[in-house]
Amino acid sequence: MDLVIKTMEGLEEVLAKELENLQLLNIKVLKRAVSCEGSWAQLYKCNYQLRTALRVLLPIMETQLETQDDLYDAVYSINWKDFVPPKKSIAINGTISGELFKHSQYPVFRAKDAIVDNLRDAYGDRTRVDTRRPDILIDLYISDNRMKLSLDSSGRSLHLRNYKYRQYKAPLNEVLASGIIQLAEWDGQKRFHDPMSGSGTFITEALMIAANIPAGMFNPSFSFENWHEFHPDIWKVVKESADAAIVHPECELLASDIHPLAVRDTKKNLQKFPFREKVHVFSRDFFTLPGQEETVLFMNPPYNRRIELDDINLFYKKLGDQLKMSWSGSEAWIISGNAEAMKNLGLRPSRRIALNHGGMDAKLYKFEMYEGSKKAKYQV
Ligand SMILES: C[S@@+](CC[C@H](N)C(=O)[O-])C[C@H]1O[C@@H](n2cnc3c(N)ncnc32)[C@H](O)[C@@H]1O
Repeated sequence: MDLVIKTMEGLEEVLAKELENLQLLNIKVLKRAVSCEGSWAQLYKCNYQLRTALRVLLPIMETQLETQDDLYDAVYSINWKDFVPPKKSIAINGTISGELFKHSQYPVFRAKDAIVDNLRDAYGDRTRVDTRRPDILIDLYISDNRMKLSLDSSGRSLHLRNYKYRQYKAPLNEVLASGIIQLAEWDGQKRFHDPMSGSGTFITEALMIAANIPAGMFNPSFSFENWHEFHPDIWKVVKESADAAIVHPECELLASDIHPLAVRDTKKNLQKFPFREKVHVFSRDFFTLPGQEETVLFMNPPYNRRIELDDINLFYKKLGDQLKMSWSGSEAWIISGNAEAMKNLGLRPSRRIALNHGGMDAKLYKFEMYEGSKKAKYQV
């Protein structure tokens, strides 16, 4: 089966690596997506285990449209009974661009009409459309005159891992946090510390990586469970074998934040996890935190968009000073959407990676704080 797996900008290569580990075939990196070939078991694994996937799509049609009416005819021509069992509700997720359709909602409505008409002719009654909690989600993509239609096997976006009970200020997206940890090639061995943890997305994703906890462990359901062709026996095996591969984390895991409410939220969000007692969560101002060697710091400091600071330049200068003074022998990965403020750090990054954070351009910076090579490293 051909599969297309959607992800966030900048995480395509990480996703491709995850797919390689799950032994998917013919892996191709696309823009904000990766395509591959796999079996039913692998489709289920992708939903349950991938950390940087947003949605797992099963393409069912790709065609050229000459006129607007071609859309209805093409969608109606599919035997929808093969995909949608009786009494199941549907919804369509549309991504529309190009000249053929002036209003992006129109093709979504026409596609919905075609599916509902097709199913009425097959089953004799009207299929319910439920845009909030559909049983079957269909993905419609039109770019210029090219239409791609897929079944969305995930339903809800896979970044919703169902552990975030509380959201302190400006939380990271779970897929982005996991992608950053994987871009840093942190593999659960070295000491991990997020000293500005907010609601704890980094530390939770780190625990999941260190303990090999499936990303979808707390996801209550996936759309593929409602498909006409669903193999519950295969799904059960996929889930049980992934759960059986959970291991005791080897490394130290730390999360701290200046604000006690953030600490409370991080603890709350960890509450369902196995090995949560391995994570040390505490309240502390980063500027008074004693540094450690051999630590990988992951930080998402405020950058003056969703959290205002009195003096952003001074804050980033102090951040850089603290890293230089106290954290030699460690490395820091910082995601920030404020390139100007980052200049105040006074540290030269050894890597810069473009990412998207909450719809805004952001960058991930890597800093290596080597003892003895301060001069070279700390010039900007
Ligand atoms: C953008 S939020 C982090 C969000 C977090 N990555 C998440 O996913 O929820 C920035 C955090 O930095 C914390 N912070 C600000 N100044 C700090 C300081 N001096 N020391 C420690 N934490 C600080 C804030 O309390 C806030 O929780």
